[in-house]
Amino acid sequence: MCGIIGYIGRRTDAGFLVIEGLKHLEYRGYDSWGVACKTEKGIEVTKDIGRISGVDAKRFLAPCSLAVAHTRWATHGGVTQENAHPHTCCDGSVVVVHNGIIENYECLRDELKQKGHTFRSTTDSEVVPHLIEEEMKGTKDFAAAVRKACLKFEGRFAVVAMHKDSRMLVAARTGSPLIIGVSKNDGYFIASDTPAFHESTATVQYLDDGEMVVTDGNSIIFSDLVTSLERRKREIEITWGAAQSKKGKYEHFMMKEIMEQKDSIARAVNQDEAAIQTLAEAIRDAQGTFLCGCGTAAKACMAAEYFFSVIAGHHVNFAPASEFKLFHRFLKPESLLIVVSQSGETADVLEAMKVAKSKGSKVLAIVNSEGSTIAREADYTLQINAGPERAVASTKALTGQMAVLMLIAYALLGKLQKGRTRLLETAAAINDMLNPRYIDFIEGIAEKIKADKDLYIIGKSWNFPMALESAIKIQEVSYIHAEGFAGGELKHGPIALIDTGTPCIVLAGNDEVRTDILSNAIELKARGGFIIGVSPVRHDVFDEWIKVPDTDTAQAIVNIIPIQVLAYFLAVKRGKDPDMPRNLAKSVTVK
Ligand code: F6R
Repeated sequence: MCGIIGYIGRRTDAGFLVIEGLKHLEYRGYDSWGVACKTEKGIEVTKDIGRISGVDAKRFLAPCSLAVAHTRWATHGGVTQENAHPHTCCDGSVVVVHNGIIENYECLRDELKQKGHTFRSTTDSEVVPHLIEEEMKGTKDFAAAVRKACLKFEGRFAVVAMHKDSRMLVAARTGSPLIIGVSKNDGYFIASDTPAFHESTATVQYLDDGEMVVTDGNSIIFSDLVTSLERRKREIEITWGAAQSKKGKYEHFMMKEIMEQKDSIARAVNQDEAAIQTLAEAIRDAQGTFLCGCGTAAKACMAAEYFFSVIAGHHVNFAPASEFKLFHRFLKPESLLIVVSQSGETADVLEAMKVAKSKGSKVLAIVNSEGSTIAREADYTLQINAGPERAVASTKALTGQMAVLMLIAYALLGKLQKGRTRLLETAAAINDMLNPRYIDFIEGIAEKIKADKDLYIIGKSWNFPMALESAIKIQEVSYIHAEGFAGGELKHGPIALIDTGTPCIVLAGNDEVRTDILSNAIELKARGGFIIGVSPVRHDVFDEWIKVPDTDTAQAIVNIIPIQVLAYFLAVKRGKDPDMPRNLAKSVTVK
């Protein structure tokens, strides 16, 4: 939530660089944007409401080698030009971009107002430059003033600050991500995520919680925010390249990422076998294994509950990350928490990890983003290797997460190779399935139901979490009211919603629960439902049949894919941008 980028170095097109970089962070927020460039004339701030993607970066080509920029997802204060970042202090000397929430901002703002500061926005963020300005009254050292100010903030924050009289960037974080991009020739970038500087460098240094960084463009110093003690940092080469972050031949990232599942599932399965076996043993030995994540990642966790039960006969517990702390009494040092997250930055997941660690429990993270906070803070980490996921709606990350969790379930059964083979066969079947004729067929179904107001999805076993996931996908990109249910629950209430022609999607496999879910479909049809079956085998109850390959225990991984395609076309046909749904951001770094 909110994207930040700063640059300092030898290049003289810093304004252009940060605007172009910011376009790669738009998935983090897209209601307003802003940039501050230090030019010969002083610091020039430009900000506006709307999306950064439409801004011509060439407008910012005036010679400048120090700049910061921000794309916003509003938390405190509406979407207005005044509330867009960067924010400045009273005399304009201090400029700040901020991500996170300063929880004690009201108290700080009142104190600052009493001292004569004038606020222009209704954001929590604006207290940051004013507080730094206030701290500067006692020192000429800008970095020291930023440090003092940051120590007064409560909540989660990442800030990047500059001053009109110092050639430096100063940044600090607690809770929200900041990554340094190191370019030997050009200088330093500080950003919320690596795609912001992909075009310039693949060498990074990670800023950890409670740390601060100061750079003049030639060198960089990391320190502990509280003690000021210097910290040494390794330079790490990341593998995600600039090309992976582009749409290529696709109009939207969402469709590109759906299609990438032809390969990404096989990459997820390509894990170090000894590590998977060790983790399976850790699960077997743990006194209580808990799974948690948010949104789509949470649905991968729910599917894994079935994988562990049906495949491995092993009990695990799931809770949405936002609810997890309420179960802390069940945690012991011998317990294991498995967290699942695409971004590796989700605030509720980090909070769940904190709870588990406070009880001495170990944490296994299954993540996509290289070097993310969750990946770095977990005791064990598995990467799903899906590559950058840019569309707000998660697609390839979900199937990668499920593939890794299923692999672990097979390892727990002592049949890792069998699991690997099944998943690789599934990946090959998905490759065949996602052909142009198949995509056109699903587009045709979207055309038929695009004007409907309500849509219901049912599933049983691991198709139940996929029914919930289907609803998320359709809701978030098309804004159609969609709800997922366990098929068996229909009769206990939801069936009252079905009317003549109501579209109902039935997710089925060729398995022991097929008869049950088909009889639920028949019940829906008897109430007038228009039945869209997603199944390896046709059935008379289906008004439309989306054929999927029969992949046995991996059926959930396959069945969700046509629904991702359907959600995409529902969005496009209703004139919505599937990559940037309203009110959402990809990386949810606030609670
Ligand atoms: C929905 C979606 C979200 C995320 C959720 C968790 O399509 O993308 O529900 O799954 O915000 O995000 P991560 O996986 O980054 O922790």
